[in-house]
Amino acid sequence: MKLYLDTANLEEIRQAAQWGVLSGITTNPSLAAREDEDFTKILPSICELVDGPVSAEVISLEYEGMIKEARKLAAVHPNVVIKIPIIPEGMRAVKALSAEGIRVNVTLIFSVNQALLAARAGAAYVSPFVGRLDDIGNSGIELVRDIVDVINLHNLDIEVIAASIRHPEHVSAAALAGAHIATIPFKVLRQMFRHPLTDLGIESFLSDWKKSEANRK
Ligand code: G3P
Repeated sequence: MKLYLDTANLEEIRQAAQWGVLSGITTNPSLAAREDEDFTKILPSICELVDGPVSAEVISLEYEGMIKEARKLAAVHPNVVIKIPIIPEGMRAVKALSAEGIRVNVTLIFSVNQALLAARAGAAYVSPFVGRLDDIGNSGIELVRDIVDVINLHNLDIEVIAASIRHPEHVSAAALAGAHIATIPFKVLRQMFRHPLTDLGIESFLSDWKKSEANRK
């Protein structure tokens, strides 16, 4: 499973890119709105920092508006992927954009049927929202597993991005459920490094080394 960062924050992207674990970025209008700079200025910098797909979402809810926005965003860099919500007008746009060679990530997926519609329209990615389903008492990871099963069963040409990831356990569960990608908030990506036994191990290795150095003197 590939790891993407779910953020529009350049400092977070810069740091995570240095760790060598990033394969792409996803953003959404809420994440973009948290930043001081305009998203049209941030997007080219994101594409420079990460050599992989960068999802940028359209705001329009009608076909013509989506197509116009999508073409403008896609012109920024060949790695830009257009994010479109799972609505009928959106699937019409997915069909047209994929015919133009513009890849689309269909977002706000909460059911297998929605994922199936996105796949049939020609989307490259589908994004089930794990945490938001958990929030209403359903299992987000079960949905990821079901979508992956349907993709494999019917040989569909689409990748699953487990989104709305809230904690490290979601990441490993998404990997076990067969997600192709998990898009992760920076805080959770950092938490993935941590284990108390790693900290203890480093501490004891260093103190043993220092003791032996002192003894040799
Ligand atoms: O990028 C979409 C998704 O990851 C949003 O997550 O935490 O707002 O449900 P969240």
